[in-house]
This record gives sequence, structure tokens and C-alpha cells, in this order.
Amino acid sequence: FFKIVAISVFHSTPILLMLFAHGESRRLNPSQLPICWWLLIKSACIFPKGKKLGWRRRQNKEETDDLKRAESMLQQADKLGCRQFVTPADVVSGNPKLNLAFVANLFNKYPALTKPENQDIDWTLLEGETREERTFRNWMNSLGVNPHVNHLYADLQDALVILQLYERIKVPVDWSKVNKPPYPKLGANMKKLENCNYAVELGKHPAKFSLVGIGGQDLNDGNQTLTLALVWQLMRSQSTAYFKSLPWVGLVQNEPAVDCSSMA
Ligand SMILES: *[C@@H]1O[C@H](CO)[C@@H](O)[C@H](O)[C@H]1NC(C)=O
Repeated sequence: FFKIVAISVFHSTPILLMLFAHGESRRLNPSQLPICWWLLIKSACIFPKGKKLGWRRRQNKEETDDLKRAESMLQQADKLGCRQFVTPADVVSGNPKLNLAFVANLFNKYPALTKPENQDIDWTLLEGETREERTFRNWMNSLGVNPHVNHLYADLQDALVILQLYERIKVPVDWSKVNKPPYPKLGANMKKLENCNYAVELGKHPAKFSLVGIGGQDLNDGNQTLTLALVWQLMRSQSTAYFKSLPWVGLVQNEPAVDCSSMA
């Protein structure tokens, strides 16, 4: 179970990054916010919570060990200037509000969401790409879209990737309406534009995105603002579905909504 939590937290980091990097944290649906924090809390406070989840009962000696461990954890937090809100006893007993405040404060001060040291990617090639664009691109590629997206705007001009993303959020795509490569030499752009028009149509109707003033032509032109407007809604929709699919979300639903601004 611990491993699953660790893996889930690891995999959701790009999504957390996206949520926070976008300055969206305060505008998130309040029911989503505790889920973000719970991912963090579950990774930080899994041991005390374990008791409530019906894990093996602890002996007195183990409780003393837990207190000692909590104290040394707090001594480390002190070095970071983050020893606030909790005592070792709060950590061990799993006081949700205080632990939440502690972890939120730690996260706010040290989000540690720097770019990964990935040997496979030549970051210098990506200069000129904003952090936001890179996040969107990585998100798409992490979902296994084909072809691989190397450039956010140019690689979406035939809308094939966007249509694949619709499928990930359970918007049905009628692939018989879609023009696929290789495109004919003559009129290739027309074929791509038709795909773009279809992508906007799906976004407006079944997906119910807000696409006022966005046409297929804008995607086909690679208009940055308007492409981002669509991609952002796709990503938000997919990540919301992802959070809902997490196994412990049922545990989270009764948690009070968290207002980050009061914790900063
Ligand atoms: C993108 O579309 C918007 C809205 O139609 C427009 O104002 C803007 O000039 C376009 N950008 C480019 C680069 O064409």
C-alpha cells in the first residue's frame, strides 16, 4: 500500500505542478483542493493514519519510537524554519488539521518542483518554450499520444493529438470523420483544418468547454493563446478525472475545504 501511495504521489507531481504553476490553486473547485493536499499528507503522515485504517495495533514502545521519530523530523523542519503548527504528539496522533497546516506550510516554502534532471532531454533545444508550454507538452506525451509532441503549437495543427486527448476524457471521437496522415500533397492544409473544425465542435458540444471565439482556423494557424485555452481545459478535465479515480478519494470527501491563502 505504501508503495502505491508513493508511486501515485510521484506520478501526480506533474499535475500538482500544473495546478500550482498555473496560479490556479485558489480558483480550484474547493472539493479538489483537499485532494491535492491529501496526496501530500498521505505521503507525509501515512504512519499515524495507518492506525485509523486498521493497521496492526502498536505497542507502547513503538509509540515512543514514533514520538522520537516525529521529534527528529521536527528538528529537521526547524532547520528549514518550518517548525510550526505541530508537536510530535500531533504528528503521531495524526491530527488532520494541524498536520495539514504543517505540510501546507512546508510545501509553500519549499515546493521543490524544479525541473527534473532528465538525461534524455536536451533542455537547450527547448529554449524559448515557457514552463507552461512544457508542462502541457509533457502531460500530453505522458498520456502516450501519437505522434510525440515536440512543439506544442506546430504539432497540434492537424488536431490529431487533440482528438486523442478527447478520448482520454471520455469524449467519443468518430474517427471516420477524421483525416489521417499521410495527407495528400495538394490540399493537405484543408484536411488538417477539417480536423481542427471537428476538434472545436467536439469541445463545444460533448465536452462543454468554454470555446467562445475559437475556431478550427485558430488551431490550424497555431494561435498560441487560443490553442492554450483549449489545451488547458483538456488538461483540467483529465486531471480532475484522475483525482477522482484515486483509491483514497472516498476517504477525502468529508474533509473540510482548505483555503490555501490563510496558510501561506
Ligand atoms: C490569436 O487570436 C486572437 C483572438 O482572435 C487574436 O487577437 C490574436 O492576434 C491571434 N494571434 C495571432 C498570433 O494570430
